[in-house]
Amino acid sequence: MEKPANSHYPLNPLIRNRWSPRAFEDRPVESWKICSMLEAARWAPSCFNEQPWRFIVGSVDMTPRSHELIGQVLMEGNNWAKKAPVLMLSVAKLHFEYNGKPNRHAQHDVGLAVENLVIQAMDLGLQTHQMAGFHLDKAHDLLAIPRDTYEPMAVIAIGYPGSADLLEGELRNRELSERERQPLQSMVFNERLGVSYPVCFT
Ligand SMILES: Cc1cc2nc3c(=O)[nH]c(=O)nc-3n(C[C@H](O)[C@H](O)[C@H](O)COP(=O)(O)O)c2cc1C
Repeated sequence: MEKPANSHYPLNPLIRNRWSPRAFEDRPVESWKICSMLEAARWAPSCFNEQPWRFIVGSVDMTPRSHELIGQVLMEGNNWAKKAPVLMLSVAKLHFEYNGKPNRHAQHDVGLAVENLVIQAMDLGLQTHQMAGFHLDKAHDLLAIPRDTYEPMAVIAIGYPGSADLLEGELRNRELSERERQPLQSMVFNERLGVSYPVCFT
C-alpha cells in the first residue's frame, strides 16, 4: 500500500513515499539488505564524529532470539509490530569517548542515523515503523543496556509493506487513514521564534 506525502514543494520520491505502516508481508528481509540499512546509518553525520548510535537487531530467520527479546519490550499497543520480520532497537551512547563528558547531541545524532537507515530501507523496497511505545526498564534489563551510559531510543519495525487487509479493526482504520502534517508556517520562522517566515507557504 502507498501513502505518498501530499506535498506542496518538490520532494525526493524516497521521502515522499516513506510512511509508517503496521502491515508487513510475511517474508524475511535478506541479510544484505539489513546490512545495507545499517551501513547507511553508519555514514550519518554526528557531533565530533562520535557516532553515538547503537543498534540491537533481531530478524525472524537469522537472529530469532534477538527478535523475540525486542518484541517483548514493546508496549501492548505496539504488539502488531511483532509480526514484522525485522525489529531493531536504536540506542544512544550518552557520553563522548574522548573526554567522558555528556554528549548533548547524542539523541539528535541517533535520529540522523535512523533516518539514513529509513531512507536506505525505502530504496531497497522496504518500509519502517519507529516506536517509542516500549518499556524502557525492560529494554535495559532484557537487552543488557547499561543505564548510566546508554539510552534506548526507539524500536524500529522493518519489512516489506503488506496489504491493510492483514490488519483488523482500529489498526486497519489507522493503516488506511490520511497522513497529516502541520503547515510549514507553524514550524518555520523569521528572526524570532513565532514570527512567520515569509518565503514558504503551504
Ligand atoms: C520516535 C518515534 C516514536 C514513535 N512511536 C510510535 C509508537 O509507539 N507506535 C506507533 O504506532 N507509531 C509510532 N510512531 C510513528 C508515528 O506515529 C508516525 O511517524 C507519525 O504518525 C507520522 O506518520 P508517517 O510516519 O506515516 O508519516 C513513532 C515515530 C517516531 C519517529
